[in-house]
Amino acid sequence: MTDTKIVLPEKGRSKQEVLEAMKTFGDNDPNYKEGKTWSLVYYLGEAYSQFLNDASQMYASSNGLNPMAFQSLKRFETEVVRMTADLLNGDQDVVGIMTSGGTESCLLAVKTYRDMARKKGIKKPEMILPESAHVAWEKGAEYFNVKAIHVPLDKGYRMDVDKVKKAISRRTVMILGSAPGYPHGVVDPIEELGAIAHKKNIPLHVDACVGGYLLPFVEQLGYPIPKFDFRVQGVTSISADTHKYGYSAKGASTILYRNMDILEHQMFVFTEWPGGIFASPGLLGTRPGGNIAAAWAAMQAMGKNGYLENAKKIMDTTRQLIQGIESIEGLEVVGKPDMSLVGYRSTSKKIGIYAIGDQMEKRGWHIDRQQKPECLHAMVTPLHQEVMAQYLCDLKESLEYVRANPKLSLQGGAATYGMVSKVPFRKMVKKNVLNMMREMYGPAGKVVDFGESNDKQNGFIEKIARLFLRFKSER
Ligand SMILES: Cc1ncc(COP(=O)(O)O)c(C=O)c1O
Repeated sequence: MTDTKIVLPEKGRSKQEVLEAMKTFGDNDPNYKEGKTWSLVYYLGEAYSQFLNDASQMYASSNGLNPMAFQSLKRFETEVVRMTADLLNGDQDVVGIMTSGGTESCLLAVKTYRDMARKKGIKKPEMILPESAHVAWEKGAEYFNVKAIHVPLDKGYRMDVDKVKKAISRRTVMILGSAPGYPHGVVDPIEELGAIAHKKNIPLHVDACVGGYLLPFVEQLGYPIPKFDFRVQGVTSISADTHKYGYSAKGASTILYRNMDILEHQMFVFTEWPGGIFASPGLLGTRPGGNIAAAWAAMQAMGKNGYLENAKKIMDTTRQLIQGIESIEGLEVVGKPDMSLVGYRSTSKKIGIYAIGDQMEKRGWHIDRQQKPECLHAMVTPLHQEVMAQYLCDLKESLEYVRANPKLSLQGGAATYGMVSKVPFRKMVKKNVLNMMREMYGPAGKVVDFGESNDKQNGFIEKIARLFLRFKSER
């Protein structure tokens, strides 16, 4: 990013030149095509990407805003929803829509259950979330003014059912379980939650955004997957993302409800707009036709056999990852992942796991850091089969390097992440992160990173460190 003022070109550039320039923009992006990323991307190779591009391009200009106009898109959407309902063992009463992604699906569930509860006279709505719930639910709580009641996890990193029972009140508008939760890849005890929800007549949403298109096939492969879908009495809705393990183009997810009486509360209808009577099933107005079409195309091209084949690759590779981590002295997996999302941490106070993350980055891997507990995270996709041996080799090397240089845990990215995760002043952390966001979305559009070591970041660490130390000495 330069300091020169960015304005619209006076005269349009040649399309070739534009495309060439665009390629250079990606020079510093994570190298997902070679399996270097462990989140964000579900890449299956160039030929498959081209297929998605073709499918998407065919409907790129069409708009799912008005299903009466683009009946093609309505058909794609209906069929994606029906195929997904079948996959998740729903009957013909199950209904739903396609959304722009997991977050939209989660937000919609919050809105739906809040509005359903309103009809019953619940004025200060609350929803019960596991501590491992995806952050999209916190966003939903904030946007729709529903208080999030957080329930701790048990020793296996599953939502603690006894604590759920205690958290239920007259204001509870929904309970959430994840299948699986993103941080530890563990499926919550959906059957037990379903029994409670059914008995108390409280809606139960299953967030299967990341697991919806993988778990059914993992189960078919013979892995012991706890029931999490519409087979469970009490489950009233499920979100599942086609743009994750459904291998569609980015910008597509589904939200399904057990019946129309529930989905109805998600609908928005306004009859007095001068532009005409307006009805919309989701958060967006315009809905990009390309994403809807590409989701249908992905599911058709993949078929049950394709999903099963990829699930086998993923689970074999995940097993290799877990065994590899457990065989490295000084590392352990967090909990017992049911699927392909693995958190792992250091077993020694002297070896900072974030410093290992920094070393892995130096070896070209794009690594996600988590907190509570501090760990690194890996989301396995089919492409990782080819790089797993190298990843494990680099992991071992990184750990040995940090063991030999313990000061690394107090430097650079490791220091920032370590400090930020431990600091008790969460408001202070929030304020600083907000400042980073202001920079990123300010006129200069700066890219700021926690792991970056520039003056601003050091200032941030220093400030927090000073406060942290003062807090400790005052106790
Ligand atoms: C369980 C779960 N829910 C929701 C989301 C949010 O999905 P998106 O990033 O598509 O908005 C994710 C993303 O990883 C997830 O893992």
